[in-house]
Order: sequence, then structure tokens, then C-alpha cells
Amino acid sequence: MTKLPNLPATIRMMDRLEQLALDTDEPGKLSRLYLSPAHRKAVDRVTGWFREAGLTPALDAVGNISARFEGTTPGLPALIIASHIDTVRDAGKYDGNLGVLAGLAVVEELRRLGEKLPFAIEVIAFGDEEGVRFPITLSGSRAVAGRFDMAALDGADADGITMRAAMEAFGLDPTGIAAIARKPKDVLAYLELHIEQGPVLEAADQPLGVVTSIASIQRLAATIKGEAGHAGTVPMPYRHDALAAAAEMILAVERIANGRKGMVGTVGIVHAEPGAVNVIPGDVRFSLDLRAPNDEDRIAGVNAVLAELNAIAKRRGVSLDLSAGYEEKAALCHPAIQEGLAAAIRSLGFEPIALASGAGHDAMSFEALCPMGMLFLRCKGGISHNPAEEITQADADIALAAMLAFVRALDPAKLRI
Ligand code: GLV
Ligand code: MN
Ligand code: MN
Repeated sequence: MTKLPNLPATIRMMDRLEQLALDTDEPGKLSRLYLSPAHRKAVDRVTGWFREAGLTPALDAVGNISARFEGTTPGLPALIIASHIDTVRDAGKYDGNLGVLAGLAVVEELRRLGEKLPFAIEVIAFGDEEGVRFPITLSGSRAVAGRFDMAALDGADADGITMRAAMEAFGLDPTGIAAIARKPKDVLAYLELHIEQGPVLEAADQPLGVVTSIASIQRLAATIKGEAGHAGTVPMPYRHDALAAAAEMILAVERIANGRKGMVGTVGIVHAEPGAVNVIPGDVRFSLDLRAPNDEDRIAGVNAVLAELNAIAKRRGVSLDLSAGYEEKAALCHPAIQEGLAAAIRSLGFEPIALASGAGHDAMSFEALCPMGMLFLRCKGGISHNPAEEITQADADIALAAMLAFVRALDPAKLRI
């Protein structure tokens, strides 16, 4: 028989999730891009909550806010519990934010009960997981994991502002990024709670899932140059319509992804110019996001897409430039963390559902640094990247209880990779 844990920290966490959703760059919807004014507000808000919990928060050179809860003796290796506080445009309240506030809630609950663990817990709010603003993403978690590529600082957003300039405007000093990297001996493991963003747990009637692996991802930017012309005077056979070419390419992406097991392909942004009702579009840019459960399938799928897009461009007499952007290899969750999470879920009377993640997560950055694992929480209708994102307080309560059971049972001696 299952029973709700009814943790005091759950109600506070749910209330904080509502408050955090007020920090937005677009009134009336939740849009909080990396290094934006809303991100600044969210950093300040989370800093305040860390202090309320008796912790000493620190803002690092990429804009991560973190705080340590010491173990039985100060300076022990830390279990990092983290996620992100940036959002997509017109986002839901739980993607990322839940994992950060759940980490804080775990610490608050341990403090309330006067418990100390044989390791420290470090809670981190990363600022750049969605990758909506700059050409790359996972900047915060990659910096902590020692994988930040300094060349990313020269990448610019849609307004031409480089990541370096945005950091400086935020009050950060990018020369301090290398020093953020944690040493392997100081990190015991990495844990992230995240909403599932898919329908599997709801269909299985279970609140929690244990993530087995995180998808392999490649993003690209496509630029097509055709020939702008008069919509009335240029007969169809003479046209080099860049938007018609893009349309055929987008359908090819859909067809190729559909035909390959586990592959997904998305064109989320399209810009056509000059953008007039009576002008044949001459220039088009579009984004490409291609994913598969493993690197081999993703690389094969990307190659198939590129070959087809180039063939379409050639046939239509337009030029196509494809520039590779953010790329992240598939990441496997550590077996010991998976087992620990499954045991924690079972101890509460639920069935742990094993599932692979199609979304990217900060956890991916840590695969080479330490044992890494993720817990997924059921969300209504599997809906995410959408303001309709929803979880229940009862499920959040079970998630916190599972995280507490996991940390209490975690044996540092058994966690070496
Ligand atoms: C982030 O949510 C991503 O998977 O793109
Ligand atoms: Mn997320
Ligand atoms: Mn997301």
C-alpha cells in the first residue's frame, strides 16, 4: 500500500515554483533566456532561498548559483543535485526549475531533521540548458564538469550580442570560467530530477521513472540562397525560390526521421526574406535539431539528412550552407545510480519505470566526471515546452521522498567509476 510522505518541504517547493515563474522577460508568459534580466531576477530569488535554508550561495563566472550542505565532516566529496533555471520561450513552470528546487528541498528536509550524510550535497541552478539564446548550450553544467569550450564565448544571439558581452553585462567575468571546473576527487555523483516531458509514466500509472540514457543531439543552422524576384512576372520554371526549397527540405527531414528507429528531427525556426507578399523569397535560414538514442544512429541520420538537403538544393538551383552548432553525445546513466533510484522508488511502494530521455539535460555534461543519474517525474499529458506543463503536489511529494531515500542509502564506497 502506498502512502503520501507529506513532507513539509513539498508545499514550500510547489509555492516557490509559482514564485519563480514570475521572473520572465515577456510579460504574460514565462520566457527566461540565459543571461537575460529575468535570469538575473531568478538568480537573486534562488540566492535568497539558499540563504533562507542556512546555506552560503555563490554565483560563478557563467552565472550558475550553487551552495553546499556539508556532510558529517566539512570538505567531503559532494553529490551534486542540480538542474537549470533558464526556460524556452512561453515555457512551463517545471522544466529545470523543479530539479533545482527539489535539490534545495532535500537539503532543507535533512537540516530540519538534523541529519548529516557521509558526503556533502551541492545544489546548483544552471543558467543555460535550453540553448535558446546562443548557438551552444549546457554552458553552466559544462563549466562545472570542466568541459566548457572557450570558443563558445564568441557565439552571438539573434541581436548580435556575444555570450562574452552578455556575461559581462550580467556582471560576470568570463576569465574565471576555467576555475569553475570541479575536480573528480571532489565530486561523488550527480543527480537530477526532471519532469518526464513525455507520456510514458502517465500511461504506466506510475509517478517516477529511472532514466537509462540521454539522447545524442546535433543542431545545425541552414542558410539557403535563391533568387528574389517579382511574384507576378517570373514564370514558375525560371524561379529559384528559397522558401519553396526550404519547405521541401523540412518535409525531407520529417520523412527521414520517420523512417529511422528512434530518430527525431525538428525545424523550429524559419526566417524568409525579403518577406513581402509579392516577392519570391530569395534568402531563408532555418534551424535543425536532430536526435537519436545513440551516437551511431544520430550520425547516420544526420548524414542522411545532409545528403538529401544538398540534393534538393542542387535540383532547385539554390545554394545551401549547413553550419554545425551544438552537439552532445548520448550519455549513459550510471548503473549504480539507476539501481539506487529504483530501490528508492520501490521503498515507497511504486514501480520504477526505466526510460530513455529524448530531451537533453545538464546531467549529460557529467557522464565523464562522475557517476550520473536522473529521476523523471510524471507530468500531465506528457506536455512540456508549453505553458500547460503540469505536475501534482502528490507526485512532487513522492519525488522528494524518493530523493531522500536515495541519498540516505547512497554509499560513497560503492560509487567509483
Ligand atoms: C532541452 O530541453 C532540449 O532537449 O532541447
Ligand atoms: Mn530541462
Ligand atoms: Mn527544456
